[in-house]
Amino acid sequence: MSSKNSILQILERSRGAYISGEALAQKLQISRSAVWKAISELKKEGYRVISVTNKGYCLSDETDVLSPEGIGPYLTRGTQELIHVYKTVDSTNHTAKKMALEQAPHGTVVLAEEQTAGRGRMGRSFHSPAGGIYMSFVLRPNLTSDDAVLITTAASVAVARAIEQVTGIRAGIKWVNDIYVNGKKVCGILTEALTDFESGGIEAIILGIGINFSTAVSAFPKEIQQKADSLFTKKPAGITRNQIAAAVIDHVLELCGNLQSRSFISEYKARSVVLGKEIDVIQGTSSEKAVAVDIDQNGGLIVKKQNGAITSLHSGEISIRGDFAS
Ligand code: BTN
Repeated sequence: MSSKNSILQILERSRGAYISGEALAQKLQISRSAVWKAISELKKEGYRVISVTNKGYCLSDETDVLSPEGIGPYLTRGTQELIHVYKTVDSTNHTAKKMALEQAPHGTVVLAEEQTAGRGRMGRSFHSPAGGIYMSFVLRPNLTSDDAVLITTAASVAVARAIEQVTGIRAGIKWVNDIYVNGKKVCGILTEALTDFESGGIEAIILGIGINFSTAVSAFPKEIQQKADSLFTKKPAGITRNQIAAAVIDHVLELCGNLQSRSFISEYKARSVVLGKEIDVIQGTSSEKAVAVDIDQNGGLIVKKQNGAITSLHSGEISIRGDFAS
C-alpha cells in the first residue's frame, strides 16, 4: 500500500482523533516530509485533514470520500482488498463484469463516485451524479439458475437493512427490487448474469446497486422528480457513504451466502410497500389491473387479477394504483 493510502487508513481508523506527524512517520518508517506530502495529496483529493500544531493531523467528520480505507474499518464480513473505488466510470456493472471475466473472485466490489452511463432495468439509464453510492458486486455463488433469481430478492433486503442500520431511516421494498423511503424511490438494483457458454451454467452474477445519498431532487431528470428522492436533503453530520457501503457489503455477502435458506423472504414481505395494494401489472406495452397478494418462496409477486385468477409474477414491472410516485 502507498504511504498516502497507509496514512489515509490510519486517519480513517481513528476519525476525530489527532495523530502527530512524527507518530505517522515512525509507524510507516517514512520521513516527516513524506508524511506532509501524502497529507497534501489527500487534501487535493477532497479529504479534509485538519492540522493543529503540537497535536498533529485529524480527518474531519465532514470528509465523505469513498475509499477502501474508509469502508474497511466498518466491515464485519467483506475484505478491504477486494474493494475497488473509482472517481468516474461509465457503469460500475460494466467494470465489475470486465473484472469477472478476468477471474475476479466472489465478493469483489466496484464503487464509483460518479457514473457517466449508469444503467437501470429494462434498458433505462440510471442518473448517477457525483455524491451517490454506485456499487457493483461480483458474486460467484454455487447456484442453479432457479436460485439465482433469489439474489435480487436477497439484495433488496440487504440494502434496506443497511440503510436502516446506518441511518435509522425505515426502508421499504417495491417489487421487484426498488428501495423506497417515504413513498419515493431512493435506490435501484440491477442484477446481471454472466453465463458459461460451455456448461450453460452461471459463471458469475453482477449485482449493481445505486443509492441516492444526498442528491437534490431538482438535480434529477424532470421525468423522475415526482418519483425519486435521496436519503438526505444535504450531507448529514456523522453519517458517511463509506459506512452505508460497508453495511451493504456485509448484508449482501451474508444473505447471498445462504440463498437456499430463503430466510430473508419474511423480511422482504414485511418491508413490501405493495402487498395488499391495487396495482397495474405492466408487461411490455400492456397493463392489467390486479391486487398484490403475497410474495412466493422464489421472490415472485402473487397477484389476484380482476377475473379472480391468481398468478405469480417473476419478471416485468408493476406500479401502485393511485400512487403518483410509482
Ligand atoms: C433501476 O432502478 O432500474 C436499477 C438501477 C441500478 C443502478 C446501479 S448503480 C450501480 C450499478 N451500475 C449501473 O450501471 N447500474 C447499477
